[in-house]
Amino acid sequence: MKKLTGRKKTKTAVFISGTGSNLKNLIKFSKIKNSPISIDLIISDTNKATGLKYAKQFDIKKKIFNFNNVKINESKILTIIKKKKIKFICLAGFMKILSKSFLKKFDGKIINIHPSLLPKYKGLNTHERAIKNKDKFAGCTVHYVTSKLDSGRIILQKKIKVSKRDNPKTLAKKVLKQEYKLYRAAIIKIF
Ligand code: GAR
Repeated sequence: MKKLTGRKKTKTAVFISGTGSNLKNLIKFSKIKNSPISIDLIISDTNKATGLKYAKQFDIKKKIFNFNNVKINESKILTIIKKKKIKFICLAGFMKILSKSFLKKFDGKIINIHPSLLPKYKGLNTHERAIKNKDKFAGCTVHYVTSKLDSGRIILQKKIKVSKRDNPKTLAKKVLKQEYKLYRAAIIKIF
């Protein structure tokens, strides 16, 4: 990623599908004076994503695309991204797979946070799997997005100790707290 010059923040879109606590964290981060990004667009694949409330709360444009027709939706996303001069995309709990051609247009400019120590536990139910396997450590990873699920180059990773008392819910909570720090650190690292 090209180093930022001056104090101009890179216009960023955040894609969500759910609660949006990582989105909220990124919005708060973007408001810090030295943050390299500003959040200018929120995209969700469902109107049920409760994280959409942050659009109103922080006065950020939001758009919902159901991805029933990936091609049409992606071309609409590209149009709005162009219009809003978005140069960087953060996936934050976004549960749809973006097409190869979309990703190609944003090569090296889309990152994702995943709640496991990748390459371990790609996909869903990461915490259930870690507990079931009696893993000593869980964690989270920020990585570049490629067309292969949860497989792009790793930017940063945080290891978190699993306690004997943890269940998937308590572990998710613990990991999520670290995700917020990791996402900020990863963005700082690549800008
Ligand atoms: C987060 O734990 C994030 O790492 C995970 O979904 C959660 C979203 O929470 N993402 C994935 O599993 C992507 N493969 P949030 O909506 O509160 O940010």
